[in-house]
Formats: sequence, structure tokens, C-alpha cells
Amino acid sequence: MQQETELQQQARIRHEVEENLVQLFAIEDEALRTTITAARKAGLPAIQINPLQGKLLQVLAAACNAQKILEIGSLAGYSGIWLARALPPTGRLITLEVSPAHAEVVQRSFEQAGVADRAEVRVGSAHESLPQLVDEAPFDLVFIDADKPSYPHYLDWAIRLSRPGSIIVADNCIRAGQALSESALDDQGVAGLYQYNLQTLKHPRLRAIALAMDEDYTDGLNIAVVLPEA
Ligand code: DHB
Ligand code: MG
Repeated sequence: MQQETELQQQARIRHEVEENLVQLFAIEDEALRTTITAARKAGLPAIQINPLQGKLLQVLAAACNAQKILEIGSLAGYSGIWLARALPPTGRLITLEVSPAHAEVVQRSFEQAGVADRAEVRVGSAHESLPQLVDEAPFDLVFIDADKPSYPHYLDWAIRLSRPGSIIVADNCIRAGQALSESALDDQGVAGLYQYNLQTLKHPRLRAIALAMDEDYTDGLNIAVVLPEA
């Protein structure tokens, strides 16, 4: 067998470390695995968060004593299950999903994971659903993982629906570095993500960081904490 190159060795070690981290901190149970299988069968893309991101969301939910969580973009309900499991029995997750077909998959995922009592999927464009959530605010944690050009708009709403100490997390805020600079702004999705990162940095009520959280170091989460009003 040919000896592995230095690059191959680095990739192998990264992969092994990721595996070890997942095994120790973020092991998926049957319900989470079933959700991924159901998503694939329903023809949904396999672009859900990874288990370590799911566990990080749970840690962040604990950090802000989350009783109410808002998710924008449900996909198949995989992240929703991680989030709902971070809630007390009296807690509430509202997840917004634009596709009625996807929302059906999400509902079944929540039922089979035993979180349907505290997790609710609302069907429709988030642009229309968000203004209707004012009476249910504040949300302690908001997780944004939806259409990328709308991220700056979703951030405005996340802040409006939050309280000091709320945490706002957004997926895909690195994009192999493209979402961190002005180099690829002709892509509307990348432009939205870059604008999102800038907004989290310049907003006087936010303290933010982006973390690469996949094993290739190519994509990850923007995490922002809502500060008290000055
Ligand atoms: C895409 C969207 C996501 O939310 C993600 O995590 C990965 C990829 C996409 O639209 O391609
Ligand atoms: Mg995503």
C-alpha cells in the first residue's frame, strides 16, 4: 500500500477526531437517525446540521435558560429535535417551514422523537410568520437555517423577538471563507451571509463570533448574544 501523504494524514486525523468528539459528546440516538433516513426517503437534501452542532445548540440553550426557542427553516426536523430536547417539559419550540411537504416530514420526525408535545412546526414563508410571533416573544434562543439571501432580514426579526441574554445562532456563515469577505458577492446567498456576519459585528446590541464546525473547516455557525440596552 502506498504511504499516505501529509495532506491525507491530516484529513484522516481530522476525521478521527470528529468521530471521537461525536462518540463522546453528541451521539445520535435512534430517533435522530430515523429522521435522517425519513428525510432522504422524502427526497430532502442531506444538509442538516451535524451532531456536534446539535449538541452545541443544546449547550447554548442551557446557557440562556431557554424556555422558548424559535427556529427559522426546519428542513426535516433534525435540528428541531436537538433543540426541543434542550427544553424543559413546559418549554416550547416553534419552527418555521416554507414547504408544506417538508413540514409533514418534520411533524412525523417530532412525533417519533417524542417531542411533539413541545415542538410545533408552522407552515409558511418566514417573512409572513415572523411578524405574527410578536405576542409569543421573547424567544430565548433563535436558530436561523433557511434561505440565505434573507438572513439579514431574519436577523432583524430575531433581535426584535429576543431579550437581553438571548442567543441568536445562524448556520452556514462561513461557506469556505466566502461569507467572510467581499470576494463573492455576486452570489445572492453568499452576499446575504456576508451581510449577516457584518450586521452581527456592527450591531450595538450583539456580541458575535463565527465558528468553523465541520471537519473540513469550511462552514459553521455564527453565534451572537443579545446585550442589554445601553
Ligand atoms: C445549503 C443550505 C444549508 O442550510 C446548509 O446547511 C448547507 C447547504 C444549500 O442551500 O445548499
Ligand atoms: Mg444549514
